[in-house]
Amino acid sequence: MATPTIAKVMVLVLVFAIPEGNSSWNGVCMEKERRALLSFKKGLTDPSNRLSSWSAQGDCCQWAGVHCDNISHHVVELHLGNPYDNDDIHYDMFKLGGKISPSLLELEYLTHFDLSWNDFGATTIPSFFGSMASLKYLNLSAASFGGEFPHQLGELSRLRYLDLGFVGSLFVENLSWISGLHSLEYLDMSGVDLSKEVQWLQAVSKLPSLSTLHLSGCQLDNMHPSDNFVNFTFLRVLDLSDNLFSHEIPNWMSNLSTSLLDLDLRGNSLQGPIPSTLSVHRKLSSLDLSMNGLTGQIPDWLGQLRQLKRLLLYGNSFYGPIPTTLGNLSSLELLYLEGNKLSGNLPKNLGLLSHLEALFIGYNSVGGIVSEVNFVKLSNLKVLSLSSTSLILNVSSNWIPPFELEYIWMSSCKIGPKFPVWLQTQTSIEVLDISQSGISDTAPDWFWDLASGIQLVELSGNQIDGDISAALLNSSVVSIRSNRFKGQLPHLSPNVKVLSAGNNTFSGTLSSFLCRKLNRMNNLEVLDISSNLLSGELSECWMHWQSLTHINLGNNLLSGKIATSIGSLAKLESLHLHKNRFIGDVPSSLGNCRSLGLIDLGENNFTGVIPSWIGGSTSLLVLRLRSNCFAGNIPKSLCQLSSLIVLDLALNNLSGTIPKCLNELSAMAQTLTPDYVRFEALEYGYDYGDYVENLVLVIKGRESEYNRILKLIKVIDLSTNNLSGMIPTEITSLLGLRYLYLSNNQLVGNIPENIGNMVSLESLDLSRNHLSGKLPDGMSRLTFLAHLNLSYNNFSGRIPLGTQLQSFGAPSYIGNANLCGAPLSNSCTTVVPKPVGKGGDESKPLWFYSGMAPGFAVGFCGVCGVLFFKRDWRHAYFQFLCDMKDRIYVAIILKVSWFCQKIKSSNNA
Ligand SMILES: *[C@@H]1O[C@H](CO)[C@@H](O)[C@H](O)[C@H]1NC(C)=O
Ligand SMILES: *[C@@H]1O[C@H](CO)[C@@H](O)[C@H](O)[C@H]1NC(C)=O
Ligand SMILES: *[C@@H]1O[C@H](CO)[C@@H](O)[C@H](O)[C@H]1NC(C)=O
Ligand SMILES: *[C@@H]1O[C@H](CO)[C@@H](O)[C@H](O)[C@H]1NC(C)=O
Ligand SMILES: *[C@@H]1O[C@H](CO)[C@@H](O)[C@H](O)[C@H]1NC(C)=O
Ligand SMILES: *[C@@H]1O[C@H](CO)[C@@H](O)[C@H](O)[C@H]1NC(C)=O
Ligand SMILES: *[C@@H]1O[C@H](CO)[C@@H](O)[C@H](O)[C@H]1NC(C)=O
Ligand SMILES: *[C@@H]1O[C@H](CO)[C@@H](O)[C@H](O)[C@H]1NC(C)=O
Repeated sequence: MATPTIAKVMVLVLVFAIPEGNSSWNGVCMEKERRALLSFKKGLTDPSNRLSSWSAQGDCCQWAGVHCDNISHHVVELHLGNPYDNDDIHYDMFKLGGKISPSLLELEYLTHFDLSWNDFGATTIPSFFGSMASLKYLNLSAASFGGEFPHQLGELSRLRYLDLGFVGSLFVENLSWISGLHSLEYLDMSGVDLSKEVQWLQAVSKLPSLSTLHLSGCQLDNMHPSDNFVNFTFLRVLDLSDNLFSHEIPNWMSNLSTSLLDLDLRGNSLQGPIPSTLSVHRKLSSLDLSMNGLTGQIPDWLGQLRQLKRLLLYGNSFYGPIPTTLGNLSSLELLYLEGNKLSGNLPKNLGLLSHLEALFIGYNSVGGIVSEVNFVKLSNLKVLSLSSTSLILNVSSNWIPPFELEYIWMSSCKIGPKFPVWLQTQTSIEVLDISQSGISDTAPDWFWDLASGIQLVELSGNQIDGDISAALLNSSVVSIRSNRFKGQLPHLSPNVKVLSAGNNTFSGTLSSFLCRKLNRMNNLEVLDISSNLLSGELSECWMHWQSLTHINLGNNLLSGKIATSIGSLAKLESLHLHKNRFIGDVPSSLGNCRSLGLIDLGENNFTGVIPSWIGGSTSLLVLRLRSNCFAGNIPKSLCQLSSLIVLDLALNNLSGTIPKCLNELSAMAQTLTPDYVRFEALEYGYDYGDYVENLVLVIKGRESEYNRILKLIKVIDLSTNNLSGMIPTEITSLLGLRYLYLSNNQLVGNIPENIGNMVSLESLDLSRNHLSGKLPDGMSRLTFLAHLNLSYNNFSGRIPLGTQLQSFGAPSYIGNANLCGAPLSNSCTTVVPKPVGKGGDESKPLWFYSGMAPGFAVGFCGVCGVLFFKRDWRHAYFQFLCDMKDRIYVAIILKVSWFCQKIKSSNNA
């Protein structure tokens, strides 16, 4: 016990080091404790000066956060947690930090010590805390401590509450110290790395009085006790969420105290069904098994857990019907079954759960008709999510629902063809998503009044029509894409941030919208009015639209030159002007838009040269100038675009040579996208959704739209120009490039010898040039090549033998009179050399190629092939697939956290 002694000596030193204040103090506060507190304060940083009352004068029992015993006047409690929540703007300012002085040991009667939500800069938790022998309550949650947890805290035998939740990057070697905490009732070590302690379960189950245990995000991977015995006599709350358990739910869960109230195993990789042994927990009020790999049917016995208020099973693989017994859970407030494989109907008796506030059924295969009876008693329902199901909402036109919904998620289920009239009764809606719900009707006038009170209005992908020229939109997000709205574009209030109105039949001039007086106060950030019938010139009114970050005016009837005032949009990240009738030069003022990540000017009649200032747009990801009349050289400055992933200059009049410096396009030079590449320009996120950029690309000869996967595309398309000279050999160091199109130019010379290095290449088109010479043997190493066109050049010699090149049909090679060998019918006259395929690349193991029969790559290209055969790509794609999955779940999680907030605030009220 050397530490406490040393600490005490230090205290004395520190205490005496304090300058004598007003020594005539004669309040109730103990002088020794007052000095100890001042000494403690001295070590702290306190940017908001919230300890200003801690001064040399005054009764320390009156200081902020200090509580004394009324009778003995000893300091017994220190409440120094951050008074602000971490979503409050004051939060950072009110963090205490600095050094924690051992002078605190002078507070011998301290029972309650709260330092939560401060910032001690990842320093270790002072081990002398273990000597604060009176402590019953210690709260260090989110106080930013780091390093190894001091086992000395195991000496706090009176401690009842220990909260270390998300304390920082803390780890423990082992938990053997914990057995000293005999009195512990509440333990939260969420976020502490416990991966080194395999015996964690035995350790914590030795705490005889433990009733609440939070070990969320502790990197635990095994819930099986080594001695196969677990005894938690008083446990009420067990939270093991966000760990790494990948086994079945263990049997000992049923041996937990039968007074268990709250079980949270969310966010692991738990397997197998929900064990029936859990049914003993008749007092459970919250059961969360979401985001695991659980399967099987949702058991009927859940209906016996009569106290359940929250049942969360989302993001698993449960199948079969939703048990009708759930209708017996008369206390249920939250039922969250989203994202499983459930089928069958929505049980009618769920409509009797009069306490239900949130019903999440979406992203399942449930179907059938949902009508008034399904909601008959749901007078408290605030959230209804039926998205991506086959449910058919069939209610009478004069239905007055018993609820006032706040959140309506009904995308991709069937509501139409009539516009849902019952919405008119719902006056508290925050989010309304009825996209792709088969509505083929006119939006009634009352709807736009109702909508003006809604934060997010999502109607896209229906057949809703109507002239909304006179409507004033007021929602922060309005998405009416792919409907049949007509007339002029509507008015916007300053609240609107996103207007996604593409693919309708809006008409009139762009100026009449942009220059309209009523719209001048707008704060719009995303304007997508592509694929309409808008006409006229690009107006000069852009100065009223300074908030814009994303503009899509593509596929309209716009004409004239690009207005120079567009350069006033300093925040612009993405600009689509494609498929219009624009003419003239690209104005240099566009170079003022420093944040541009996407420029799409394709399919217009732009002329002049590609401006060299574009090279200064270092955040540029996409440059699409396809199908215009640009002439002159490809400026070398383009090579400075270190984030570029799409360079499409096809179908212009460009001449000169292909710049040698293309190898400097560093985002394309790497197989994995470098960290500095920011994709913000391609996606704009808002609460409960996002706006994703859409780009039309011609890949493998097919024109398609790319949106979410756009960030994985790496393409250079320079085809159909007048480019001459050789293919620069430097281009072969673009190891991340997936698609290279140089066809229909005047290129001469050989294919660069080391083209085999371009390991990511999936599609290569060099047709219709004057290229010559032998095909490099290395080409047979292009394992992912799924599409090849070398036709109509002057290539000669044998098509290299190997796994790949024979699998393309003869059309890939025709028009090269001197080329021979399979798959062409003219055989070569010389001796057949040995195939190079198998041993062609010494650096790769044999299995890398095994099973890749000819033709295989053609049929089995792209994502799946890549997933199987290449690790780093697999990683990228896996990431992407996870992202896709996350999209669903992010939405789900947002909803959950919203719900928890609601519960919290209603509990506090
Ligand atoms: C001590 O004071 C507090 C607040 O001043 C009061 O709530 C509490 O009842 C008092 N306790 C005793 C034992 O007097
Ligand atoms: C610890 O403090 C945090 C933040 O003030 C609070 O949310 C939490 O409930 C406290 N823990 C206990 C056990 O009281
Ligand atoms: C637990 O870790 C401490 C150091 O943190 C060490 O002294 C002790 O021997 C370890 N105990 C066991 C049982 O491993
Ligand atoms: C479980 O623990 C309690 C309290 O520590 C004890 O009384 C009881 O005997 C234990 N049960 C078993 C089966 O060991
Ligand atoms: C669960 O309890 C039963 C009966 O009390 C006992 O036999 C079994 O060993 C316990 N299992 C675990 C893992 O604690
Ligand atoms: C529970 O639900 C089932 C199926 O809906 C029903 O048959 C049963 O009577 C209910 N039990 C009670 C006690 O209400
Ligand atoms: C445009 O909207 C129509 C429905 O109005 C839809 O069928 C079509 O797929 C949409 N096109 C695009 C590209 O979104
Ligand atoms: C471009 O100009 C040519 C000739 O003036 C015209 O035929 C063509 O339709 C124009 N293209 C577009 C997209 O406006």
